[in-house]
Amino acid sequence: MNFHDIKSFDINSIDGNFIDNPYPVLENLQNQQPLHYNPDGSVFLTRYADIRSVYQDRSMISDKTETMQEKFGDSPLREHHTTSLVFNDPPYHTIVRKLLAGAFTPRKLAEMTPLVESIVDRILDDIDHNGPVEFVSDFAMRLPTEIISLMLGIPEQHRHLLRGYSLSILGALDPVVPQERLDAGNRAVEEFGVLLDELVEHRRKNPEAAGPGEVLDALIFGEVDGRSLNPRELIQNCIFLLNAGHETTTSLMSNALGILLDCPDQYRLLAQNPEIVDTAVEEILRVESPLQIGNRLATEDVKLSCGTITAGTYVHTSIAAANRDPDQFHTPHAVDFTRTPNKHLAFITGIHVCLGATLARIEGRIALQKLVTRFPNIQIDGKAERLPLARFRGFHKLPVRIH
Ligand code: HEM
Repeated sequence: MNFHDIKSFDINSIDGNFIDNPYPVLENLQNQQPLHYNPDGSVFLTRYADIRSVYQDRSMISDKTETMQEKFGDSPLREHHTTSLVFNDPPYHTIVRKLLAGAFTPRKLAEMTPLVESIVDRILDDIDHNGPVEFVSDFAMRLPTEIISLMLGIPEQHRHLLRGYSLSILGALDPVVPQERLDAGNRAVEEFGVLLDELVEHRRKNPEAAGPGEVLDALIFGEVDGRSLNPRELIQNCIFLLNAGHETTTSLMSNALGILLDCPDQYRLLAQNPEIVDTAVEEILRVESPLQIGNRLATEDVKLSCGTITAGTYVHTSIAAANRDPDQFHTPHAVDFTRTPNKHLAFITGIHVCLGATLARIEGRIALQKLVTRFPNIQIDGKAERLPLARFRGFHKLPVRIH
């Protein structure tokens, strides 16, 4: 499907062409139908100003109980996605967010920085300088997996399972999901839940055994206004934190290398001027946002620049389109590692703004800076494969040769 006639675009039936390169279709929608109705009555928004307004509007809610019930029935996936804070609203959202926020205080993040540096050094030491490297498994996923595992106390022998779990659980959120992917998602929630149950039980009995950077004890024992997480909330929010914390950051790393390979001038610029790494990471987040599409439900009529959305409408927000909106970004399709200002929406805005944004930025900056200064000449060495998902953008495989 090429969606040349933009009126026929349907987010519920996108295909591989769209997943490979969604930007031409998104640009057409932005120009011709910024308030686009899908056949199921939901709307698909593409303008920066509209998407920003949606995220800042408290009448646009995140609760997805009804859609999750319809999509997943009574299943582990429904239980997970309706209990995690991201698909809930105040007051439950506020309590869980405050409890998790204890894991991201400046003190905790300062504790993380030297850990990130030593993990990146170790990963780079492991890379075979002249041999073939599969960048996603050999580099991109290793740092986020190790960091989030340290935070939640996941022992080394279980870490190899995490990416599969994440992709299965998050992949079930795609607009189109075949039955085998639903089955895999349900299995992943169950298996992951059993593993976390054991870890929580162990930490309850041995709170003093928490390692550096670990925050599991804060989630188990933490209280906000006398309320702590019950066992179901604790497990489902830990699963969410694990997924949110490593899959998107893995994609940030793999998208970074994809962009470096596509834009050798920017690669040289960064290798010669590593001090621009902060703006480079923001630009990578803007042009290839790891989370491409968000959702909200309108509970009141909402007026936007592109028209009015009526109460009861399900809203898809194209973060990917917003981040390339020419009304907000000069030459939006060009990659410029020195771009400022760069108020992209990769972490959105409003009450659900990404809680791990600072950590993701720390990981991205340290990893990218060390990678390009140590290896100023990386080349593609085979066929790159994108993740087969519309909502999440990253690479499944990125074979390269490092000199
Ligand atoms: C480049 C990496 C990342 C990107 C692009 C990203 C993006 C996002 C986005 C767009 C949301 C909002 C979803 C919505 O409400 O519709 C979000 C929420 C969230 N993210 Fe991230 N994220 C990243 C890394 C992380 C990391 C490393 C962590 C934790 C270790 C994390 C934890 C969270 C949490 C807990 C929420 C839920 C916040 C809430 O509902 O109040 N994220 N993230």
